[in-house]
Amino acid sequence: MDYRTLNNGVKMPVAGFGVFQIPLEETKQAVLDALGAGYRLIDTAQSYMNETQVGEALSATPVARAEIFVTTKVWVSNYGYELTRQTVLGSMKRLQTDYLDLVLLHQALGDYYGSWRALEELQADGKIRAIGVSNFNPKQLADLIAFNRVTPQVNQIEINPFHQQEKEIAYAKKMGVQVEAWAPFAEGKNGIFSNEILVEIGKQYGKTAGQVILRWLIECGIIPVSKSTKIARMRENSDIFDFALTADDMKKIATLNDEKSQFFDMDTPEMVEMFQGFIASRQPEIDKMNAETEDVREARSEACPASKPFRA
Ligand SMILES: NC(=O)c1ccc[n+]([C@@H]2O[C@H](COP(=O)([O-])OP(=O)(O)OC[C@H]3O[C@@H](n4cnc5c(N)ncnc54)[C@H](OP(=O)(O)O)[C@@H]3O)[C@@H](O)[C@H]2O)c1
Repeated sequence: MDYRTLNNGVKMPVAGFGVFQIPLEETKQAVLDALGAGYRLIDTAQSYMNETQVGEALSATPVARAEIFVTTKVWVSNYGYELTRQTVLGSMKRLQTDYLDLVLLHQALGDYYGSWRALEELQADGKIRAIGVSNFNPKQLADLIAFNRVTPQVNQIEINPFHQQEKEIAYAKKMGVQVEAWAPFAEGKNGIFSNEILVEIGKQYGKTAGQVILRWLIECGIIPVSKSTKIARMRENSDIFDFALTADDMKKIATLNDEKSQFFDMDTPEMVEMFQGFIASRQPEIDKMNAETEDVREARSEACPASKPFRA
């Protein structure tokens, strides 16, 4: 596995495996299979509710913990200084690890400033090797960098051939923030795996459309995080280090960009309202998960209102 060096010197694998939407009962095996297929970056989140299953895989795999780059994300209703500090420790317990390689703030919503200060401290305490954000646009990223001590090491955003996010990538690069791509396959939307341009490019190298997408991202300096529950596809998605795209291939892929999210536009008031409902509907599960950690119960009772903005 090749690595990229983050702005604090930490080395991060150039491609990763995500566990969003994998059924709980399949998650442990999927992570074990992904590690077996060669992945060394595992991406989960508090809101995926599967950190426990990922932790079971991390403790069962023969791959040494030091070789695995474990990422989780703090959920919005766990924002605020104290609650973030405590729930990250809860994530570590569920993941059966005494340190995390990367912790991201999942969305640019709510009290992410308080949360950022908590991540800065946890990093200074040696509990987290790299800290970052997810779904932050350039203005939000600029603001966070301008008025805090630590520049995020990573911003994880949606990037796929239909949504290439050139401005977002250029700004992150300028500020020394490593970009990660979530949903590099757009979750299969829009016929991505049979897209004529991608299939034709792949044929030159004996590769599939999916492999072309991952290779394209890596050559653009972006770390793709893809998901599959099938071993054959995990192996396919890992087999991307024996070919290179030409400038002509890159130009063809650029023509696929229609500059629209395949999911939702993150920069609208409607998105905030949509997330408000979503966050409220997930809260009972998040409360249950947090309640398993005694410290979190104390943090919640002391938390400022902004750290739980969406409670009824
Ligand atoms: N930060 C955020 O807000 C955010 C949001 C979304 C996702 N993420 C992260 O990014 C990761 C990846 O995104 P994602 O899971 O949404 O979507 P994705 O990786 O773009 O697509 C996954 C879909 O593609 C299929 N697939 C995978 N490899 C394939 C192949 N070689 N051929 C054909 N089909 C293939 C999978 O089906 P099978 O499973 O059946 O193979 C699944 O339906 C997540 O797991 C999560 O870790 C982060």
